[in-house]
Amino acid sequence: MPENEPILNYEPGSKEKKELKEKLSKLKNDKIEIPLIIGGKEVRTGDLGRCVMPHDHNYVLAEYHKASEKEIEMAIKSSLEAKKMWDKFSWVDRQSIFKKAAELLSTSWRSTLNAATMLGQSKNVFQAEIDSACELIDFLRFNSYYATKIYMDQPKSIKGVWNRLEYRPLEGFVFAVTPFNFASIAGNLPTAPAIMGNTVLWKPASSAVYSAYFFMKLLQEAGLPDGVINFIPGSGSKIGSIVFKDPNFTGLHFTGSAPTFQNMWETIGKNIRNYKTYPRIVGETGGKDFVIAHESSEIETLATALIRGAFEYQGQKCSAVSRAYIPNNIWPKVKENLIENLKEIKIGSPENFTNFMNAVIDKEAFDKIKSYIDFAKESNEAEIIYGGKCDDSIGYFIEPTVILTTNPKFKTMVEEIFGPVLSIYVYDAKEFDSVLKLCDETSPYGLTGAIFAQDRNAIKKAEEVLVNAAGNFYINDKPTGAVVAQQPFGGSRASGTNDKAGSVINLLRWVSTRAIKENF
Ligand code: ALA
Repeated sequence: MPENEPILNYEPGSKEKKELKEKLSKLKNDKIEIPLIIGGKEVRTGDLGRCVMPHDHNYVLAEYHKASEKEIEMAIKSSLEAKKMWDKFSWVDRQSIFKKAAELLSTSWRSTLNAATMLGQSKNVFQAEIDSACELIDFLRFNSYYATKIYMDQPKSIKGVWNRLEYRPLEGFVFAVTPFNFASIAGNLPTAPAIMGNTVLWKPASSAVYSAYFFMKLLQEAGLPDGVINFIPGSGSKIGSIVFKDPNFTGLHFTGSAPTFQNMWETIGKNIRNYKTYPRIVGETGGKDFVIAHESSEIETLATALIRGAFEYQGQKCSAVSRAYIPNNIWPKVKENLIENLKEIKIGSPENFTNFMNAVIDKEAFDKIKSYIDFAKESNEAEIIYGGKCDDSIGYFIEPTVILTTNPKFKTMVEEIFGPVLSIYVYDAKEFDSVLKLCDETSPYGLTGAIFAQDRNAIKKAEEVLVNAAGNFYINDKPTGAVVAQQPFGGSRASGTNDKAGSVINLLRWVSTRAIKENF
């Protein structure tokens, strides 16, 4: 099994820090123009979007071309053409391209991807390193490893009969629609189906076209043949409306919001009679991730987990803690510890490596998060016990905000906010069993969650009651930071199809197996 990519720590005076600093200023000066890449060729449409820095939103990093109907059709044609050639690659040859991509990202491309994610998605250096370097490298390496396991898994043969399974790619093209919050997920969604022999149309999130483009260039340098992945930024609804009508559409690999995924599923359903095959639909959507503390919790561990889980990357991880249930007999100490540590948090540009938090992704996110904070400010069921200030004059900055509510079904305890807002409900310590039930029933999602307790019986109860409430369940740890191959990631209920990214489960969705029996 491969090793996980080691995390570099960018200590003062280190080679990696110097290189990253240089890359940050180079990217800021370059102001590139980003074309579509279809069939390996750069395509310009003149319909331009802008990549800006969320922490300084007047600063334009790049302009990118958006796909129109003509280019979307070109991309479909190109992926179908490329499929004929990609089919002739052995699975070993396909893997060597992605293994090489992992090596390039680990070495010569690391600072570029990290700098692009820091500037374009406002991530601090640590958050960029664990995402656009380590996690993405891990996806590439472990997908190759798990693909090997799949291809080697063959059925039983008996005397005179040789049975075999051919793990064929799906018939048609796959559509990958990727999010802004993880460059690693953005890179994984088109490459996982491609490793299994599929060709792909890749529509990156408009707010993360910048880092996605650099990854596309890296794949080309690694030797990815033309047309295997076609890079088509643009309007999601425009691209979707053409893709989902095409009879050759054969799979959707999606990470984003639950309503968008549900709309796509509905459209696919309406078109089901037009397709050559039943499309594979794989999606990771929203979350309302929780922490439940038992009275036996270790207070400092709990407080640190709440801060890191709720506020790293401004609470914009799909796995971020956004609601917590704390027993009344430990709450005063938890609160004290929480507030003391929150005061240490520095917010600002990721170019200053000492800032723990940066800006939220864009104006739309800023306004949405602010509206929840304003709602809490005006409610008599809630009190803001820390933070609450929002300022978008230069960048989209929001303080880490803690809302204490007396209503366990308060709006901010139930709805997905996707920002640096943690809602806390303090319960009577004797009511632990009912709080588990309450937590399970409060949200339609089932992505991540954590229990904090030293009492084994409490842990056991939580595991039992919350069996479907979190596809990734943590005991005495924050519910963020799943590592590829260690904690395969994904949730069920309204959080997605739970096809664990970077695992055999996910890769099997991208093959259509043929069983062959031969008599001798
Ligand atoms: N690896 C990311 C996390 O768990 C998705 O936060």
